[in-house]
Formats: sequence, structure tokens, C-alpha cells
Amino acid sequence: MTQPMTLRRFLTRRAGRGELDPNLIFLIEDIASACRVIGNRLRNAAFEDNHGLAGEINVQGEDQKKLDVIADETFARICENSPRLAALVSEEKEEAVWLKEPEAGDFLLYYDPLDGSSNIDVNLSVGSIFSICTVAAAGERDVMKPGRVQECAGYAIYGPTLMLVLTVGDGVFGFSCEYGTGDFRLTHPDMTIPAKTSEFAINASRYRFWDQPVRRYVDECLAGRAGTRARDFNMRWTASMVAEVHRILTRGGVFLYPADEANRAEGGKLRLLYEASPMAMLVEQAGGAATTGQTRILDIQPQSHHQRVPVILGSTQEVTRLSGYHREAE
Ligand code: AHG
Ligand code: MN
Ligand code: MN
Ligand code: MN
Repeated sequence: MTQPMTLRRFLTRRAGRGELDPNLIFLIEDIASACRVIGNRLRNAAFEDNHGLAGEINVQGEDQKKLDVIADETFARICENSPRLAALVSEEKEEAVWLKEPEAGDFLLYYDPLDGSSNIDVNLSVGSIFSICTVAAAGERDVMKPGRVQECAGYAIYGPTLMLVLTVGDGVFGFSCEYGTGDFRLTHPDMTIPAKTSEFAINASRYRFWDQPVRRYVDECLAGRAGTRARDFNMRWTASMVAEVHRILTRGGVFLYPADEANRAEGGKLRLLYEASPMAMLVEQAGGAATTGQTRILDIQPQSHHQRVPVILGSTQEVTRLSGYHREAE
């Protein structure tokens, strides 16, 4: 059996055809290295006394886990060597970190170093999310880029297999990390989301806070074949956005983290720059859709680094239905 192509070959082929900035190859490879290192730290966490809390509260007001901090430092340490990387924006850092005087064509890296970190101590899937944009003009110290200008978006999932899933704007490709060599190889070419699904994901413990369109949607799913949807639905909730999106990219589904009565003042739960935008690009590139209910996520103009937004993403038929319910309720 011939081996699937490596991440490096995948990227250099695109660069050779003029479809990808060659400088991006180094940065994406650095991200892949950071994810490999984070994967090893997760695997060895019990031996290195790295479970539990770091003892600090991050800018989000969350208790940082030791591994949130380790993953953040790993990303920064490995990626800041990338010659064209101008700035880092991380979930765990209050402000953007400028690494050089920005020049046109330099890169901005946005990342959630460890997503789903409440899952670490219970040994369930977590991930890292990243997004890359470019600096438009020399001296432009602006990281507030709408998702539609992302050059690249992706995530690593630390599951039974370490995988890197990414898009550079022409589809979604999944690379599995080969045990032994550490190579990422293209095992999942052209990942697509079926338009139709009977599976939804939402934290149903927040039902009492939901707005009418979300309640209506979930109530109809729960009614199953006896209700207006005339079919039975399945529900999943892993509390790790990476794991939910990976499932949706693999077999379809819809994921919701809406704004509700309890989180509305903050705008929702998930952060636009390093959670919602990259996942929205991946989902759209795989043939799905991503919205707040009112607005396409990739069209939102960010106002602040850690801005939160409502997120509804996945199979187009369900996302379209949910957008319709929101419109009707206006
Ligand atoms: P993070 O661990 O990076 O702070 O993100 C957690 C996010 C996301 O991954 C997940 O979808 C959601 O929070 C889980 O929220 P609940 O705790 O409400 O289930
Ligand atoms: Mn967090
Ligand atoms: Mn996260
Ligand atoms: Mn995180």
C-alpha cells in the first residue's frame, strides 16, 4: 500500500502551483510541531504532574488548567520562530503579542491552545484551534480581521489518533499523525459535511435560558418522528468544540452554542477570533454553514480580542432552518 502524502508534500505542491504563499508552509509546519508536542504533554500529563489547575484565572475569567498554560507556551515558543509571523492572539493572553514590526504579507496567528480543557482530567478528547490572517500593509497593527479573510484555519484533535484538520481555502483535509515517525499524513482528503443530518449537539442543561427559536428547534428534534420533523434525532455533547466539529466533519450534524439569557451580556460563550471564525471557515469549506442565527460568522467585524459570539454550525439544511426560526422570531 502506498503511504498517504505528508503535510509537507501537500503544502509544497500547492505552493508550487502558485496556490499558497510558500512562507505559510513554515508557519503551518510550526503549528503542526506545536500540536505534536502538546499531544505528547497530554499523553504524559499524569507522570509529569500536569493535571489540575494552574492556580490562575485567565482573561476570560476561567480557572486555567496547568495544561492550558503549557499548551499556550508551547504554541508561542515554537511558532514565534516563524520568520514572517508578526503577532499572536491567544485565548490565554490578555493582549495581542507583537513579535516584529509588521510588513505587508506577514502573518497573524490566532489560537485556542487547548479547547475543551474541562475534559483533560477525565481523559476525553481535547483539541487546539488556529487561524492565520495576513497583514495588509506595512506598520498595520490590526488583528481585528473578519473570518472571511483567513488564509488558513484548522485544529488538532487529541483523540485516540492525533489528527490535524485544516483548510487553506480549497476544501478541508485531515492528516493523521503516524505513530513512530510523527509525520502528519493525508488520511482524510476532502472532508465534506452532508447537507442532511439527524444529529444535534447542544448543552441541554441550559434549556431554561434559551431563546424561543432554539427551544423550538430542539423541541421539534426531541419530538422525533411523531412531531413536525417526522424523523427521530440523536443528541451528543462532548463539551469540546473541536470534538463536536470533528464529528460533524466526519458524519454530519449541527452544533449550537447560542447566546441565552445567562450569557447574553457577554455575547455568548465561544470566542470569535480563535474559536468561531476558524471553525466557521472549516465548516463552510466542507460544504456546511455557520451563523449566529442572524449573521454569517465569517462576516462579523471583530471589535475586541476575546469577543464572544453565538455559534450555530454544521449541515446546511439544519443551519438554514435555525436561521429561519430566528428570522421568524424577530
Ligand atoms: P475552552 O476549553 O477553550 O475554554 O473552550 C470550551 C468551550 C468549547 O470547547 C465547548 O464547546 C464549550 O466551551 C463547553 O461549554 P459547556 O461547559 O457549557 O459545556
Ligand atoms: Mn478556556
Ligand atoms: Mn475553546
Ligand atoms: Mn482553550
